Amino acid sequence: MTMSDNAAGSPLTVLGIETSCDETAAAIVTGDRRVLAEPVLSQIEEHRAYGGVVPEIAARAHLDYLPGLIARAIEEAGIGFDELDAVAATGGPGLIGGVHVGVMMAKAIASVHGLPFLAVNHLEGHALSVRLIDEDVAFPYLLLLVSGGHCQLLSVEGVGKYRRLGTTVDDAAGECFDKVAKMLGLGFPGGPAVEQAAMTGDGARFKLPRPMRGRDGCDFSFSGLKTAVRYAAEALPPGVLKDQDVADLCASFQAAAVDVLADRCANAMKVFEASSGRPAFVVAGGVAANAAIRARLETLTETKGFRFVAPPPRLCTDNAAMIAWAGIERIGLGLTDPLDFKPRPRWPLDARQAAG
Ligand code: KG4
Ligand code: ZN
Repeated sequence: MTMSDNAAGSPLTVLGIETSCDETAAAIVTGDRRVLAEPVLSQIEEHRAYGGVVPEIAARAHLDYLPGLIARAIEEAGIGFDELDAVAATGGPGLIGGVHVGVMMAKAIASVHGLPFLAVNHLEGHALSVRLIDEDVAFPYLLLLVSGGHCQLLSVEGVGKYRRLGTTVDDAAGECFDKVAKMLGLGFPGGPAVEQAAMTGDGARFKLPRPMRGRDGCDFSFSGLKTAVRYAAEALPPGVLKDQDVADLCASFQAAAVDVLADRCANAMKVFEASSGRPAFVVAGGVAANAAIRARLETLTETKGFRFVAPPPRLCTDNAAMIAWAGIERIGLGLTDPLDFKPRPRWPLDARQAAG
């Protein structure tokens, strides 16, 4: 019997629920790293007309979709609720209306079936997701978490033990991609559209700033870069932007973003306290899907003596398998939560920051 087994000696089977942003997701994951089901419903269509995620619309959509999605997960996994060992839901940070929906649903299932309940920190879900696919990723490892809501460098030292090395002082990287896309008329979500446009662009045409590059520490800043893209676009001849202008702006912006991310990660690699010869450097979050960012970070990782590990995109973006897996890791340490847990819109991972 291992820490991820139940009392009968079988691997734990955990239902995970994720509702903190605009993906409604449920997953059933086992202690021996099998994902039995992971249906996801993206709400992109609901939010597209607004050019971003509208919290009230997101919460209502989670309420509509979640019960059916959980039933689907149970059916696809081919199990009954009585075969679950626990229920884990994202308890924060995130858009609070959506978090309430997922937490209430998890509490209801846990109390009806007499199961332990786990309120998982969404960031902890991202931080530990790599261990679901790669059992060789041992603590401590270095994590770059880059999504629409977060841009952080973390030293992942154990379950519940995280040291934040740096974070953004303004926008998250994905948020910046989304805002640049919006100002250039490329739609929502912006990251994939900017990457696509950049492929045919000249990344050297516009001289854009690299905020924070060369500075000590591991913090990020993206809002000055976003503003510089706006000024560069406004300096072009009046009228509709030509496709080539948009492509060149996207390529120049992406080149600057890649430079900034690589510079900050290089600093983190210097201060990271490794306990093995070749620690893992893990990238997670939706922005990690960007091929230019991935390629640069992979090269950097190799030159600095780290091992590059990137979970597949379905585990990088918001998903419930990572929440179920973080639940499994926490149960192994006896860390379940009471049913009066209150959802937390803000919830830093690093205990020192949580203490203020
Ligand atoms: O992790 P995620 O699905 O959701 C959260 O924000 O938590 O990340 C979504 C973010 C969006 O900002 C999206 O524009 C960005 O990831 N993104 C990308 C790419 N694909 C998604 N950014 C740059 N390049 C991409 N290929
Ligand atoms: Zn996320």
